[in-house]
Amino acid sequence: MPTGTSAHVSARVNAFSYAIRNIVAEARKVEAAGRKVQYLNIGDPIQFGFRTPPHLIEAVDRAMRDGHNGYVASAGIAPARLAVADEYTRRGMPVDPERVVITQGTSEGIELALSVLADPGDEVLVPTPTYPLYTAVLAKIGAKAVPYRTDPDREWQPDIDDIRRKTTSLTRAIVVIDPNNPTGAVYPEATRRALINFAEEAGVTILADEVYGDLGFDGPAPLIGSLAPDAPIISFSSLSKAYLAPGWRTGWLVVGRSPRLDDVLAGIRKMADGRLCSAGPMQYAVAPALDGDRSHQREFAAALKARAEVTTRRLSAIPGMSCVMPKAAFYAMPRVELPEGRTDQDFVLGLLRSQGILCVYGSGFGMPTDQGYFRVVFLAPP
Ligand SMILES: Cc1ncc(COP(=O)(O)O)c(C=O)c1O
Repeated sequence: MPTGTSAHVSARVNAFSYAIRNIVAEARKVEAAGRKVQYLNIGDPIQFGFRTPPHLIEAVDRAMRDGHNGYVASAGIAPARLAVADEYTRRGMPVDPERVVITQGTSEGIELALSVLADPGDEVLVPTPTYPLYTAVLAKIGAKAVPYRTDPDREWQPDIDDIRRKTTSLTRAIVVIDPNNPTGAVYPEATRRALINFAEEAGVTILADEVYGDLGFDGPAPLIGSLAPDAPIISFSSLSKAYLAPGWRTGWLVVGRSPRLDDVLAGIRKMADGRLCSAGPMQYAVAPALDGDRSHQREFAAALKARAEVTTRRLSAIPGMSCVMPKAAFYAMPRVELPEGRTDQDFVLGLLRSQGILCVYGSGFGMPTDQGYFRVVFLAPP
């Protein structure tokens, strides 16, 4: 490469976007100009003073001191996989530890599953709004994210008719984020059954993102797979949210017991070999997390419920603003009436520059840019 010529950058970089972090560059400029910024853009409870349960830290500390600092099996250490399988079995989705893979957070599970399920040109149904990693990974592997509607007038529930309309012979999977980021929705059983029926009829795999399952304000949400343990479901979760350890990058994916998923499981395990393993010492916290004291979850969920109520009430009291009350997790998706010709990005950047408050524009989650949606993280003290 001649001096002064830039190295080639692949076209997929242009297709890849992750607004939650991209927008931070704008916030840094505002800070450089001397204004303090409140970061309400990223769902990290640790940054707002919540603490990882001590028994999990002790488990990782002990693992390191006991010398567990080498590579581990690519699918994860046996006690972690067993604890995940037991947890799913207890919660009504019986599964063998052989069908569990310990991953670098939910994120790596998502990437592994999509990479195995979809070829370039294949289609995956993704909710709108969506957690943006799904569209980003699909862009990276050259598959097509096909957006399906969730309805703010029905507490952000999926529109099953829209899902059916958008399904083609190329549809390989449907992403179901329940409880949901960015809307805070938890789907009722009838909706979940309708999604399962759809998947069975259409022959597509459900990718069930259940990372907020234990953070329902009225108690843990059931696993989607508990309604139909033989349906083609791959579930993802992690220690990041409900166990307050997002920086550990430790999670799991569970391939449901349906024999239709046997080849997919083999594909996931084959791909997982290539990255050797997820961080070893952290895996020693999985069994203590799932089998041990969970009292922190009740306190955390109660704190979140109080924040959700303040957020929704105060936002809805502002003229021109509306907000559906979240039922889980730490996100709300309010809507502001935009003046003609303005976009959600204009609003979010204006709020950042004039008030020093950083939210993420709804179009970062796939919403049309003229609808005025934006996401607020309500982890900060009320
Ligand atoms: C819906 C959803 N899925 C996955 C993730 C990624 O989580 P993890 O830290 O487990 O990779 C997040 C993080 O915000 C999320 O909101």
